[in-house]
Amino acid sequence: MTQINSKRILLGVTGGIAAYKAAELTRLLVKAGHEVQVVMTEAATHFVGPATFQALSGKPVLTRLWDGDAGNGMAHIEVSRASDIILISPASANFIAKLAHGLADDLLSTLCLARACPLAVAPAMNKQMWDNPATQRNLAQLRLDGVTLFEPASGAQACGEVGMGRMQEAAALLIELEALFQPKCLAGQRVMVTAGPTYEAIDPVRGITNLSSGKMGYALARAAWEAGADVVLITGPTALALPPHARAIQVSSAEEMQAAVMREIEPISIFISVAAVADYRVAQTAEQKLKKTETAPTLLLTPNPDILAQVAARPKPPFCVGFAAETENIAAHAQTKRQHKNIPLIVANRAQNALGQDESELILIDFNASKLLPRAQKLVLARQVIAHISEML
Ligand code: CTP
Repeated sequence: MTQINSKRILLGVTGGIAAYKAAELTRLLVKAGHEVQVVMTEAATHFVGPATFQALSGKPVLTRLWDGDAGNGMAHIEVSRASDIILISPASANFIAKLAHGLADDLLSTLCLARACPLAVAPAMNKQMWDNPATQRNLAQLRLDGVTLFEPASGAQACGEVGMGRMQEAAALLIELEALFQPKCLAGQRVMVTAGPTYEAIDPVRGITNLSSGKMGYALARAAWEAGADVVLITGPTALALPPHARAIQVSSAEEMQAAVMREIEPISIFISVAAVADYRVAQTAEQKLKKTETAPTLLLTPNPDILAQVAARPKPPFCVGFAAETENIAAHAQTKRQHKNIPLIVANRAQNALGQDESELILIDFNASKLLPRAQKLVLARQVIAHISEML
């Protein structure tokens, strides 16, 4: 499912084994409703045949500067004029060097030089080539030139080595690309997102927690950043990599989360409380590991602060958004929570269908209306939630 209007994407494929991922990317882009014009370098055609891209994109693939296949013989101008963005995927070390130096000795490099649209580059190469100072210098030059880099990942490479340089998977590149086109509807806003579970210690090795993975909160932090906001993410313990685009503060217990939220809340204009905060903590955390006893012990619990309600009760509260993971009567329970916490918007979901998963289905509930966001990837949903928040603002 796409979040953007159809775009005209010029997909440049250069020589590298990751060219096979570009075939999958072409399929995903077309499936998401985009128009894709593939341009291949000569080297790329040794890895994947143009017929593959032609079949997937539904258009003839352009490969040569002198074919005259663009009518007036100025293919580089025609093709780049007809594009909303150029994405080079995979971008070889050699092609990156050409871009950095403004060389134009084949069709793809010529139309990059002649472009009037943004350029994004997904590097793919052996780790030694990636680490080479010349490549790093060229990449730094591209960043300075305003080219978007879809950074490669670290991992096993086709050459048998392990390290940086492996191109991102096609599905991840699609998300990165669509992010570039997100409307900057939260520009100038300062957003705080809480995410993940909390962990309430019983003793030094045991605790009470829940199944929240943090995925929805991290997706919202990302979607808010994509929309132009300055983002602080306050996160309980999760297995996720901290998002590079938000300032992340890691906490463990509900009380730590509360302290971090209150310390950072002053300049915040939008507070999105996605964290599954434990309602109770253990009244007396044991200092030493508890030993097994003849009779089962009883844990005395004490209530945790309600962080969202506390933020909403501030004299000048930010725009507060709550989340409600319910197992039954979803919309009704969520509406009651929204009223109790005195917040303008609550996002409800069915806990069984959302917790820990990559996809979810949401209901946005405000004081007089509700809106269903059908099942989709959490990032796609997060973008829709952000758009809804900006409309409400
Ligand atoms: N929340 C919070 N602090 C808490 C408990 C919840 O900030 N101590 C926030 C959550 O981040 C979420 C919303 O309140 O945005 C709803 O949380 P939930 O736990 O579902 O609601 P409760 O009020 O705790 O209701 P219940 O557990 O009975 O379903």
